[in-house]
Amino acid sequence: MKKMLTLAIETSCDETSAALVADGREVLSNIISSQIEVHKAFGGVVPEIASRHHLDQINRVARQAFDEAGASLSDVDLIGVTYGPGLIGALLVGLATAKTFAYAKNKPLVGVHHIQGHISANYIEHKNLEPPFIALVISGGHTSLVYVSGYNKFRILGMTRDDAAGEAYDKVARVLGLGYPGGPLIDQIAKEGNPEAIHFKRVYLEKDSLDFSFSGIKTGVLNYLNSEKQAGREIHTADVAASFQMAIMEVIVAKTISAAKCMNINQLAMAGGVAANSLLRKMLSAECIKHGLELFYPSPILCTDNAAMIGCAAYYKYKEGITDDLSLDAYANLEL
Ligand code: KG4
Ligand code: ZN
Repeated sequence: MKKMLTLAIETSCDETSAALVADGREVLSNIISSQIEVHKAFGGVVPEIASRHHLDQINRVARQAFDEAGASLSDVDLIGVTYGPGLIGALLVGLATAKTFAYAKNKPLVGVHHIQGHISANYIEHKNLEPPFIALVISGGHTSLVYVSGYNKFRILGMTRDDAAGEAYDKVARVLGLGYPGGPLIDQIAKEGNPEAIHFKRVYLEKDSLDFSFSGIKTGVLNYLNSEKQAGREIHTADVAASFQMAIMEVIVAKTISAAKCMNINQLAMAGGVAANSLLRKMLSAECIKHGLELFYPSPILCTDNAAMIGCAAYYKYKEGITDDLSLDAYANLEL
């Protein structure tokens, strides 16, 4: 039987991406054009510049996705696109492109929640993974623990009350003068540092809460740097990075294990850019072995923003009869 071919588009932040995915889990192409270099000079993503770059790149990226997959628009059965949450101007570029393709060839259109996409990235490389499982969604814009009871059924068990974990990494990297994006840079430099050199406060919130709070840790790092400077002491950046990471990850790992225990679920999956973090992978893997849980995570390229994950999610929405029409809008904020 002919496989169902999904064309997917993702432009919610600073990656312009198009992919072709067969039967939801087989990636034929996944082209990602990153704008990191463009935004580096500003220390973060500038929304207006991001929209312009998406406009500039989207046609080339889509064409390349077709070329690499050896397919044409006529072969496509379904079009999936991220419709939120994200930068509104950036989302609109992907949405307009997807709608144009859908209209031109009269193909079904499915809008995908960006976080559903991140979670779905796990299905691509783990062919046997099926719900139910607990997902730790951890990116530049989100940090939440989600109970995934079906391909399209989610319940938020806990989420950050302020900054996302990736946001904390990016902010701390900035005050350490490491550059942007901070996550991979801190991950790297922390390998040379001592995670016990400085004690930053672990924020667990109320007993049994699965919520997170990361806004205080940036202030903790800033206060430490200021007091060291005032005392005329040398700053060991690697030690600060390693200690910061450990303070964040200890809390994340503990709460993720708690979520699995309290829901009585033995499969855990990680999703989002910070899921690429080497310390998190190491710590969570060790804890999962200890607690008899099975851990899944995508390879780094599928952790950060990409269209293949959107194609996978669109396929499972379509299979359950969920489609959208051409009036589909983009939303900066959107609940899962
Ligand atoms: O999922 P993503 O590409 O975009 C959002 O949806 O936010 O995640 C980007 C975030 C950034 O904050 C980046 O610093 C962080 O993921 N990140 C990492 C690592 N790789 C990317 N954080 C920690 N360790 C990493 N290795
Ligand atoms: Zn993302």
